[in-house]
Amino acid sequence: MNNGVVIIGAGHGGVQAAASLREEGYEGRVTLIGDEAELPYHKPPLSKSFIKDSGAKPQILRAEAFYAAGSIDLLLGETVESLDPVGKQLKLVSGGSVSFDKVILATGSRPRVLPVEGGPLAGMLSLRSIADARAIRALAGEVEDIVILGGGFIGLEIAATLSAGGRRVTVVEAQQRLLARAVAPVVSAHVAARLAASGVRLLLNTVVNRIEGDDGHVSAVITSAGERIPAKMLIVGIGVVPNAELAAAAGIQTANGVRVDAQLRTSAPDILAIGDAASYRHWFTGADVRLESVQNATDHARLAARTITGHADTYSAVPWFWSDIGDMKLQMVGLTGGSDRQIVAGEPADNRFSVFHYSGPRLIGIESVNRPADHMLGRKMMGAGFSPDTQSVAGGSDALKAAFTDWQTRQPAPV
Ligand code: NAI
Repeated sequence: MNNGVVIIGAGHGGVQAAASLREEGYEGRVTLIGDEAELPYHKPPLSKSFIKDSGAKPQILRAEAFYAAGSIDLLLGETVESLDPVGKQLKLVSGGSVSFDKVILATGSRPRVLPVEGGPLAGMLSLRSIADARAIRALAGEVEDIVILGGGFIGLEIAATLSAGGRRVTVVEAQQRLLARAVAPVVSAHVAARLAASGVRLLLNTVVNRIEGDDGHVSAVITSAGERIPAKMLIVGIGVVPNAELAAAAGIQTANGVRVDAQLRTSAPDILAIGDAASYRHWFTGADVRLESVQNATDHARLAARTITGHADTYSAVPWFWSDIGDMKLQMVGLTGGSDRQIVAGEPADNRFSVFHYSGPRLIGIESVNRPADHMLGRKMMGAGFSPDTQSVAGGSDALKAAFTDWQTRQPAPV
């Protein structure tokens, strides 16, 4: 046992895993391998402040000194080509090999590619990495008309940012409403109304059938409604696919990502997987999920470090997520797939409201627009297993807090 832990992927999850291993007292070697050449950075600002401000710098996750101080070997600009779970060795594309005792797969996900007639062409971009964000920022500085494909989180954050910067932005969304994967119809409608009022053109129930180019560069898109929309930039934000190929090629079980148990162990002994790339049976809903969020990646990372250091706790973090779209801070907690009743607290007209989702009597999620107190309390309530009644929700933050406190005082003391 002297080859230590090798973490593959230096995003939010990978970096947190390295930090958590040390925090948990792991004394073996820790090697963190990332395929980008620069120090690991925060991804959320890329679709917001970074593309807005030409002078914005990457916000690094940890200073270089952190890796040295923690004796974390950082291999940047290196891609893992293959993984041998039996021989306990991995090969790098650059030619070297690295031996390991344990591996944490933190390989993340990548943007879905749009197969479209006429493409691909220059000016057709997606956003995942800082290199992608730099390309979008540079081109946005030169063009007027931008089409964004996909009215999900990436598409809408970028639409709000570039529209506020004076660009003519059209969002083309295949579904009948925005953010359909993640939020209730009332939130979708609110976001759509506010974006439209701020000048973003929204085409719902629409896809792009064809793109046109000029000298190898995108110049227009033709929608399924037959409209030709001029665009010198086409941003594609139509979801992501998990980076599970390395695991699959190594014979590790995959199904919508790398399958892991409640301690984040894959089907191969000594190999764990975390974050966007990992799929698992969720403790909260009993359904199989693969969650794409910073919270899921970092909470997984903390648990993976505990599994490796011999603890037996299982994953039980409450899922949460946020997105800044123009003047709307959207915060989501829980998983609302099984929602059969929704209570709206506050007023959409004030741009401040929350949707409480229930499955029977059980609170299963809250979506908040500019109501951070509901979100923070929601995380605590759901972590404790408390479901407030309709009256407490309708009574606002103070009534909700009081109901929660009252419930807590009535719980039996932990043994
Ligand atoms: P998404 O799944 O949120 O949204 C994709 C959207 O594209 C959906 O609305 C879908 O209906 C639409 N779509 C799919 N195919 C289409 C087609 N052919 N034509 C038109 N529309 C189509 O994924 P998105 O926005 O690409 O984001 C990628 C990842 O990045 C997600 O995991 C997301 O959660 C994450 N993200 C997180 C943010 C945050 O933490 N605030 C911000 C931005 C992205």
